[in-house]
Amino acid sequence: MQQQPWWKTSVVYQIYPRSFMDSNGDGIGDIPGIISKLDYLQDLGIDVIWLSPVYDSPNDDNGYDIRDYRAIHKEFGTMADLEQLIEEAKKRGIRIVMDLVVNHTSDEHAWFTESKSSPDSPYRDYYIWKQGNPPNNWGSVFSGSAWERTEEDWHYLHLFSKKQPDLNWRSEALRKDVYDMMTYWLDKGIGGFRMDVINFISKHEDLPDGIVHEGSHYGDGSPYFMNGPVIHTYLQEMNEKVLKHYDILTVGEMPGATTDDAILYTKEDRHELNMVFTFEHMDLDSGPGGKWNYKDLYLPDLKRNFEKWQLALEHEGWNSLYWNNHDQPRIVSRFGNDEAYRVHSAKMLALVLHGLKGTPYIYQGEEIGMTNIQLPDISHYKDIETLNMYNERLAAGEEPESIMKRIYVKGRDNARTPMQWTPQGGFTTGTPWLAQNPNTASINAEQAVNDPDSIFAFYKELIALRKKEAILTEGDFTLLLPDDEELFIYKRSYQGTEWYVLANFSQTTRTVAHEELPLPSTQHVIGNTKLKTSAHGIELGPYDAVIVECTKGEGK
Ligand code: NOJ
Repeated sequence: MQQQPWWKTSVVYQIYPRSFMDSNGDGIGDIPGIISKLDYLQDLGIDVIWLSPVYDSPNDDNGYDIRDYRAIHKEFGTMADLEQLIEEAKKRGIRIVMDLVVNHTSDEHAWFTESKSSPDSPYRDYYIWKQGNPPNNWGSVFSGSAWERTEEDWHYLHLFSKKQPDLNWRSEALRKDVYDMMTYWLDKGIGGFRMDVINFISKHEDLPDGIVHEGSHYGDGSPYFMNGPVIHTYLQEMNEKVLKHYDILTVGEMPGATTDDAILYTKEDRHELNMVFTFEHMDLDSGPGGKWNYKDLYLPDLKRNFEKWQLALEHEGWNSLYWNNHDQPRIVSRFGNDEAYRVHSAKMLALVLHGLKGTPYIYQGEEIGMTNIQLPDISHYKDIETLNMYNERLAAGEEPESIMKRIYVKGRDNARTPMQWTPQGGFTTGTPWLAQNPNTASINAEQAVNDPDSIFAFYKELIALRKKEAILTEGDFTLLLPDDEELFIYKRSYQGTEWYVLANFSQTTRTVAHEELPLPSTQHVIGNTKLKTSAHGIELGPYDAVIVECTKGEGK
């Protein structure tokens, strides 16, 4: 195998600190809690931790609203704790990747309070201010207008909550401050950055109105701020000034990035980022008008989408692979079956994703098959996006029951319930900040690490396989049976070896006939079931998934 950069053969584990492990009984996860679980992560076999924000923050958006980039949020611990985390992780061969949130700050950041104090402030142009009426009709991602009026009859732009004013990347002084801050962290020995909505930082200079989609009061400004006019210049400058001086992993969170954009962002000779976190596969169960108007997934759409990304980035650029993060509902509840087939379908989903080319990301709790939650009413929910959406729809006359259904399916708090460590919960000795899922009695890490057939054990196997087998990192991808609505089958090929990844997304038993997929000398590589062959073909029971190997020329 040719020598690959370490981030291509790594598996990343995302920690949402608030919900991972609480060491002091205040009901909020913290950094000492994370340190206490490093052995668990080492056992799982991951190489990198992506830490969602731990910086000082008033917590309007759980830390994605940063008040001070160089201080640790006091509920999470101290800078000494963070340094110890970096050190302790390093001892276990794990790198810490920090979240870099520089599309916006908190409105309590000193830059913003300065900026707001006067139109003549030297920090005024660190943010996007317009005098008089809002200059356009853009809506915020978190409901309502994207413009907030200040007493002096000025408006500032906030694509997210009004406590998250957008930074103005046209300001050279701002860019320099951001690069200095990044250097400060890299010099502490972190392993890289996950960059929050980094493809939003270049806004169209004229700030044109967006189209008003049916059912919305506001315009969709995304064509004017996603992948904007100067984005590549900014990222190349960031690379030149900061990134290229360190051996790090960089991943850009990029809603609205196409495969063509992704190549521009990640092609090595363009010197921008290593990989992008894309969204198309996560939007396939959204109807017109966005994620709250959900619909069922049509499996051929998912397969075609993965195929598009796998092929586009096969020889240039690099994919990241994920099912879950802190913004997404739990995958086993979403594309699997979280009841009778929870364990089996969670393994199936893991196998499909980890069989692809790219860097896999596991979100805390995914490795034990944590599920969505349904809390009795809105008063139990904490997420600002959810609360704003609820209030907006209620004001527009929608029934609470109907809104709650949307939250049960798509709400971000599904991903944010505390990590389930033991049958009692094990996350905190106090009252957790967000309800613990009662199914912790049966779904928990303690059970999983002691069970050789657990989802955890399966993830361990998949991670170990990626380390061992170059075909996973390097092999080409071919989609088979693209129109089949139940089976997801693809082939990976590398130096004469072919692996077939076979997965059944349904509860129906299916036989893949030998005419469709001749596999004369198959060898079982890994699976959530033993390979079942007959004279007719390979049989796949409900949610079965296997990888089989055959030598070139024998398969189709
Ligand atoms: C994307 C983050 O993943 C999400 O949690 C956050 O609310 C927004 N960016 C705003 O920072």
